[in-house]
Amino acid sequence: MNGVAVDAAVEAVLGEYEARARREEELWDTLGPEEAEQRIDEMLLPVGRATGTLLNLLAKEAGACRILEVGSSFGYSTVWLAEAARAVGGKVISLELRAAKTEYATERLRRAGLADCVEFRVGDALESLAALRGPFDFVLIDLWKNLYVPVFQLLHPKLVPGALVIADNMIEPASARPHAQAYRHAVHAARDMSSVLLPVGNGIELSRYQ
Ligand SMILES: C[S@@+](CC[C@H](N)C(=O)[O-])C[C@H]1O[C@@H](n2cnc3c(N)ncnc32)[C@H](O)[C@@H]1O
Repeated sequence: MNGVAVDAAVEAVLGEYEARARREEELWDTLGPEEAEQRIDEMLLPVGRATGTLLNLLAKEAGACRILEVGSSFGYSTVWLAEAARAVGGKVISLELRAAKTEYATERLRRAGLADCVEFRVGDALESLAALRGPFDFVLIDLWKNLYVPVFQLLHPKLVPGALVIADNMIEPASARPHAQAYRHAVHAARDMSSVLLPVGNGIELSRYQ
């Protein structure tokens, strides 16, 4: 268990997500590749506690008030980001394709006392992102992996100096590695980004603008 000071309501909701994630991991191991693909939208696919904790600490340390999440799923990482946003008087805008996932997340955020800190945009993240003016000072990229590069291209002009961009799944799963490499290549090619790969959770790329 990592140590981070969140209140009992937030901890209870995080614990509930993590119990569900453990059950899904067991189920996942029994599924063949075809069935796993068919049932992907039933799964939380969370960043996990280590990455959630790191996101929370970094956002608080940066005093990040304008947080963008690209790929909320059922809201596990959203809770970590929203808790940081509340601590610094900020807000999270979270983008997700599936309305049912956003409804589930909204109910958990309400129970965690964090509903006022998050605004969801349901639909294709590329369209949502194109319509958002920004600017953003903290971004989590965690949607389907083939979209990381176009997402980065759209959000790059909307970053404030000092903004942090975190991309999940840079190391695991192995099937995502070609897309992860393409993302890392795009970020490293941008001369105004400093970037490092961290072996936390599924592997994250932590990048800073200017
Ligand atoms: C790995 S999950 C996100 C997990 C979440 N960040 C967490 O830690 O709990 C990826 C999510 O991205 C969403 N997604 C995939 N393509 C998308 C798109 N084009 N626009 C918006 N969301 C998308 C999926 O529906 C899925 O819920």
